[in-house]
Amino acid sequence: MSRDFLSLADAGGDMVAAMINDAIDRKAARQGCAKGKADADAPLAGHVLAMIFEKNSTRTRVSFDMAMRQLGGSSIIMEAGSTQIGRGESIADTARVLSRMVDAIMIRTDDHAKIEELAHYADVPVINGLTDLSHPCQIVADLLTIVEHGFALPGLQMAWLGDGNNVSHSMIEAAGLMKFTLRLAVPEGYEPDAGFVERARAAGGEIVITHDPLEAARGAQVVVTDTWVSMGQEGGEAHIKALEPYQVNEGLMAQAAEGAMFLHCLPAHRNEEVTDAVIDGPQSAVWDEAENRIHGQKSVLLWALGKL
Ligand code: CP
Ligand code: NVA
Repeated sequence: MSRDFLSLADAGGDMVAAMINDAIDRKAARQGCAKGKADADAPLAGHVLAMIFEKNSTRTRVSFDMAMRQLGGSSIIMEAGSTQIGRGESIADTARVLSRMVDAIMIRTDDHAKIEELAHYADVPVINGLTDLSHPCQIVADLLTIVEHGFALPGLQMAWLGDGNNVSHSMIEAAGLMKFTLRLAVPEGYEPDAGFVERARAAGGEIVITHDPLEAARGAQVVVTDTWVSMGQEGGEAHIKALEPYQVNEGLMAQAAEGAMFLHCLPAHRNEEVTDAVIDGPQSAVWDEAENRIHGQKSVLLWALGKL
């Protein structure tokens, strides 16, 4: 059985904590710098990651590629449209072929069923680089950023503002596994998937769903948002109007705990879900968060390939 990383639960809470610690150690060994050298131990020397993209990406693409290079391996980036997938070759046959050639596969796709099918037919680890349902690699980087900034995960008070989307689902999952409180303020009709909420509550996370942005933000140590219109969504005027009251601005941040941190997975739609004043302000940790995609990805890759 290969170690697939389709969700945080595939690794489990203890291993997610170990991933964060390993990322902190590796980052420290590089003197905190994400650039300029490979990791001395080269644990993935000779290993190759294939990355399939059915949607746009900047951070996921570059951070996985950088992670593989720093770990001594390399990657192959495949735009789905220019592969035979784009001409109708099945996911199952693609999985069978790539499994004979590479050591691991990362895919960014739309329908989550596609990554499940890929994982089913692949003999090598499959990693979720975002689907319409979830984005677990992003959350490894987010948790790393939170811990690095001095917050403990158990008992943490977090607020999510905006759309109950794929990124929010993985954050809900994290709240269950790492035992923190997540208050999500979303408009009616934009609630996160009920299954994620139920599972996180059962795992020991406190999940509150509200339509009141101030209720979510009050006393929060970490405030998180994401685009109001995810890739593949329609958007439109009514959609934007519904989300407008959930903007993260200075007024909203004033409700959060003193020293609260702001996170956004990026790309940001400035002055929609977050104002310039907040994303460029002293509470924002979004550039650390973006850099941490490299450090987090390394832990995910090491775990998937049995080195962690
Ligand atoms: N946050 C994130 O996944 O960014 P990209 O879409 O640029 O990969
Ligand atoms: N929710 C966003 C995240 C982008 C990284 C999307 O799916 O487009």
